[in-house]
Amino acid sequence: MERHMNIKQMPITQESEKALFFHNYARLPLAITHGEGSWLVSNTGIRYLDMIAGIGVNALGYGDKRLIKAINEQAAKLIHASNLFLLQPQFALAEKLLEISGLSKVFFANSGTEAIEASIKMARKWAALSGFNNKKEILSLTNCFHGRTYGAMSLTAKAKYTDGFEPLVPETGMISFNDPLDLEKKVSEKTAAVFIEIIQGEGGIHQISAPFIEKLNELRQRHNFLIVADEIQAGCGRTGKFFSYQHLDLEPDLVCLAKPLGGGLPLSAVLGNENISNVFSYGNHGTTFGGNPVACAAGLAMIDAIYKDNLMKNAMEIGSLINTGLHQLAEKHSQITEIRQYGLMIGMTVNKEAKIYVEQALEKHVIINATSQNVIRLLPPLNISREEAQQCIMVLDEIFSEE
Ligand SMILES: Cc1ncc(COP(=O)(O)O)c(C=O)c1O
Repeated sequence: MERHMNIKQMPITQESEKALFFHNYARLPLAITHGEGSWLVSNTGIRYLDMIAGIGVNALGYGDKRLIKAINEQAAKLIHASNLFLLQPQFALAEKLLEISGLSKVFFANSGTEAIEASIKMARKWAALSGFNNKKEILSLTNCFHGRTYGAMSLTAKAKYTDGFEPLVPETGMISFNDPLDLEKKVSEKTAAVFIEIIQGEGGIHQISAPFIEKLNELRQRHNFLIVADEIQAGCGRTGKFFSYQHLDLEPDLVCLAKPLGGGLPLSAVLGNENISNVFSYGNHGTTFGGNPVACAAGLAMIDAIYKDNLMKNAMEIGSLINTGLHQLAEKHSQITEIRQYGLMIGMTVNKEAKIYVEQALEKHVIINATSQNVIRLLPPLNISREEAQQCIMVLDEIFSEE
């Protein structure tokens, strides 16, 4: 009781954070009170241009009135009842996602990693039902990221996510990213599924190549495995199409969505084609919270806004404006070594630790993000304006110039 009272008096600082919490992400030294459009406001009243948008979650930025209305109205009606019941907001969002994707069925969960777990289980069950006893292997690609629970972590490439947590889930393995020869070597009749990100996000914004996808399609025909597209970061319009796989000649069997799907509330989905539609029987898999009605109502409002406001077009246009701006910076500043841009999923490789620039940008009231040691990652809201994008480039210019 005594301790509890003390905790309540703690200031919102990094020191208190260390005292209170198990480590999560390394947090920025910034206490946020609210957001407005593409801007976050600190407890000292300073406005920060947010170029990472809740790690790709806040597709509509902060304070979208339609989103708030949908959340309020649904919360007033029903916040939670569980999947024991038929819930209208789940139906509405499921229909919308199936209409957009042309896929057959939906499973709702709460987070990206849960969507990956559900997909691993679906793939193994599908393989078991298909009559191949040894078809259990789940493969992913080097440099990938699929999440932090055991199944998803076992598919995640970097040692920093897996070290000390072994043993990983058995019969999981990695194929070299964009290496069709290694792909051919690794997949076999034993392969139940191959998990891919079309654009690797945490891995530093790298796109899967068309020849790799061509080979993957060919080998799926030969060995009968599932292709699972992890659209958790690249999906919901960020790359200029609703799904990033639509940029390529690919029809995945399963698709995982999360991050922006619940309009900022925890929500994820697995979408699957006819092949897998009857794999789970009742009770095989489930979740208490997954498909929460408020999150589904928010998701529907978010998707409606993406279409009504033409945000995929905006992602293409502003993404290309940022790309041009960054290339101009690269001509002036030797610190920039490469730029990779897919809509509003943008990576810029620099010749030192990217987190140095994150700190400097913060001092100039712009929030950027570092991934893969030396990659500056930008995942701004999909409705970011031209002026805001230009402001980010201007600040980056200042930072590189001052070095
Ligand atoms: C591609 C990808 N897959 C899976 C995940 C895991 O999602 P979550 O953090 O919601 O569990 C992430 C999160 O960054 C991701 O980017």
